[in-house]
Formats: sequence, C-alpha cells, structure tokens
Amino acid sequence: MVEETVEFRSVRGFHDILPEEIAYWQRLESFSRRILEAHGFKELRLPVLEMASLFKRGIGEETDIVSKEMYLFSDPKGRELCLRPEATSQIVRAYIQNRMDLKEPISKLYLIGPMFRHERPQKGRYRQFHQIDVELIGDRGPISDAEILILLWRILQGLGMGDLVLTINSLGCEVCRPHFKSHLKEFLRDKREGLCPDCQRRSEKNPLRVFDCKEAQCKASLEGAPRIDESWCGDCTDHLRAILDLLSEAGIPYILDSRLMRGLDYYTRTAFEVKTKALGAQDAVAGGGRYDRLISTLGGPDRPSIGFAIGMERAIELLKLNEALRPEGPKVFIASLGFRARLFAFKLMMELRARELKTEMAYGESSLKSQMRQATRYRAEYVLIIGDEELEAGTVTLKEMNSGEQTQVKISDLIRRLIGPKTP
Ligand code: HAM
Repeated sequence: MVEETVEFRSVRGFHDILPEEIAYWQRLESFSRRILEAHGFKELRLPVLEMASLFKRGIGEETDIVSKEMYLFSDPKGRELCLRPEATSQIVRAYIQNRMDLKEPISKLYLIGPMFRHERPQKGRYRQFHQIDVELIGDRGPISDAEILILLWRILQGLGMGDLVLTINSLGCEVCRPHFKSHLKEFLRDKREGLCPDCQRRSEKNPLRVFDCKEAQCKASLEGAPRIDESWCGDCTDHLRAILDLLSEAGIPYILDSRLMRGLDYYTRTAFEVKTKALGAQDAVAGGGRYDRLISTLGGPDRPSIGFAIGMERAIELLKLNEALRPEGPKVFIASLGFRARLFAFKLMMELRARELKTEMAYGESSLKSQMRQATRYRAEYVLIIGDEELEAGTVTLKEMNSGEQTQVKISDLIRRLIGPKTP
C-alpha cells in the first residue's frame, strides 16, 4: 500500500516567526520593556485561555469581536472557553481575582503576548497576532490619560517610527453618553432600511456599534449622523481639554475626531488610536482608551482606568521600513587558510564570543574568496584574515568592511582593538 503524503501547513491566519525576523521582535520587546519599567509599569503574564463569558461581559455582545471573531469551544466538562481576543478584560479579571486593589492604590501593568480573533486574514491582519498591552488602573484624572498617551508616543517614536498620527475622541460618560445614544437611535430609525441586518439590530440595542461596520451601505447611512462632541457634558469637555493641553506641552501632535468610536463597549471618555500611512488598509498601530466602569462591571471595586495596546506585527512592519534599524550582522567574521590557522581561528572565535562579541567563521574548508562572500552575506563589520604565515609572524589582517581598509594587527593587540580599551 502506498502511504499518502500529507503536507502539513500552519493554520490560516497563524504565522511562524522565523529567525530573520526575530531581531525586530526582540528590539520591540526590549525597548518597550525598558521604557515601561522606567515609567513604573510591571509585567504580568496570563493564560491564553479564559472563560468566554468574561469577554462577552467585558467587550460587549454586539461588538464584532464578541459576536463574530472569538475562538470558542467547550472543554470536556462543557464549559464555554475561548482564546483571549484582547488583554484588557483579562488583566481586569486577574486584578479582581488577585485582589490587587488591596495591595496598592494604583496598579500599572503590562502584558506582552498573543491574541486571537477570527477575522478575515489579510496583510497586517492575522488570526493570531501579538500585543503589548498597557494598563493604568485606579485613577480618574486627566493626568493619567496624559501619562498613558505620552508613554505610548515615547515607545513608538523612540523605536524610530515616523509618520504616526494620534487621533483622539471622547466617548462621553454615563451622564452625557445616553443623550448621544438616543439622538443616534432616532437618527438611525429613519435609515433602518439602508442598514445591513447586523446594524439593523445594533441600531436598536447598541447604536454606537454601527460606526464599526465595514459595509459601504452602513457607512453611507451614517452621513449627517449626530456628532458625539455635541453631547459632551461639562466634565467630559474639561477632562479632554486638560489632556490636550498636556499633550501640546509635551509637543505631541494630535487630531480630534468625533467619529472615532473604537470597536469595544467598555470605553468611557478618552478613546484614541495611532495610525500610519505607511501600512495600507490595516493602518492602526495602537489603540486604547479609558474604561472607568469595566472593573465594577466585571464584579470588582470602582476603579477608573485607562490603557492601550500596540499591535506588534504592525509595529514590526514599520520598523522594517526604517533602513537604519536593519538588524546587525556579526561584528567579526574570521577567514582562515590552512589547518593550523583554522584551529587558531576557532579558539579566537570562542574567546571573542566569551566576551559577547558576535563572531562567526566558515564551517568546513573553503577558499578565501568564498569566505569573503560569506562575510559580506552576514554583513560582518570586520573580517580577520588568518593564514599560516600570519600565525608565524604573530599578526592577522583586519579588514574594515565598510571602508575596505586593511591593517596588520598584532594578535596580542587584537582583542583590545576589537573590544576597545574600556572593556575588561
Ligand atoms: P484594539 O484596537 O482591538 O484594542 O487592538 C489594538 C491593536 O492591536 C490594533 O491597533 C492593532 O494594531 C492590533 N490588532 C488588532 N487586531 C489585529 C489583527 N487581527 N491582526 C493584527 N493586529 C491586530 C484592544 O485590543 C484594547 N484591548 C486596547 C486597550 C488596552 N484599551 C485599553 N487598554
């Protein structure tokens, strides 16, 4: 019997992250961690599996995420579980469960990890994607909003991303949002016929969610819709004004957009997104906002909060556009000719590596020409050329690859020359 060969492939929308990409991931993570820690945020790590009801209650039943995109399944006991589609509700669950409110008045937390949404895959949109999620829990004032926004901007700018646009809106509070909702409901009642079936239902139950719909007919129906900024109460206006003043003082440009609604129900007041023109359709690199009622909605104490999440795949696409951020090759490549020189090269390579100097040499024997080609492919900063004759003379040839300049260096001086005098 002929055995059938099966081609195994990763699941659609799920991606392998290969070594040639990993330097960007490490840079994004380590830089973000450094900045986050400097701003007093602490990391936590949480399971990817949660009870589905957490997100239904947290994000809202009428959102696209909950109604269409969750990876849902039952465990052997028949409990409904899901892969987390976002981190905010989950961090809040952990905050409540672990009584973090009793440990400290303000909790500043971050989480780095994969999220799962069953969306239609396309460039920049995946079914498993990664976020750096940051939450400041326990403060109501605009200073926290400014802290979060300045922090987000510092991370993205500090990584060398250009062309970013920060868009802000206020979604109102429990005092003023109901007015907006009822105006919008009334407006949509006349447009009902033109809405998709989902939005017909949403227009009654949760009219704000009509703004998230991607259907052209629904977008068109929203033309002339009431603007949320016309419904803001005095407190919401003052809150936003205070944030905008702090942003201006910090030199951070922003755009106010009363149409920015965000696709999650838990937001109150501040909502924001950072977009870029460099990525095409999936242009949001980060998003977030204030969620003053979420913790009490999920059964915890009254703790107003604000946070954001950076989409790591999109951030990495932006990093790749910046030529200056191309990951470095090894600092040194050692080319050697002859048996004794190869052994010497091996020992030298291991010594340089012990001093954390990234060093490579060719495996197996090959000509000098092919070793030089390999050094170029690696983008080595220096090449050391060692032959038996050089060994006799106690020197090596040091070639600086950028300038092409070659010098003879005494073997005894080599390490000082490559590592510099300050390093022990
Ligand atoms: P979000 O806007 O749903 O917010 O996601 C934040 C970021 O994750 C997006 O701006 C985008 O960069 C990235 N992202 C979302 N979906 C995908 C996808 N399918 N493929 C690739 N990247 C994606 C939240 O998740 C909120 N929890 C943010 C937050 C934190 N609000 C308050 N605290």
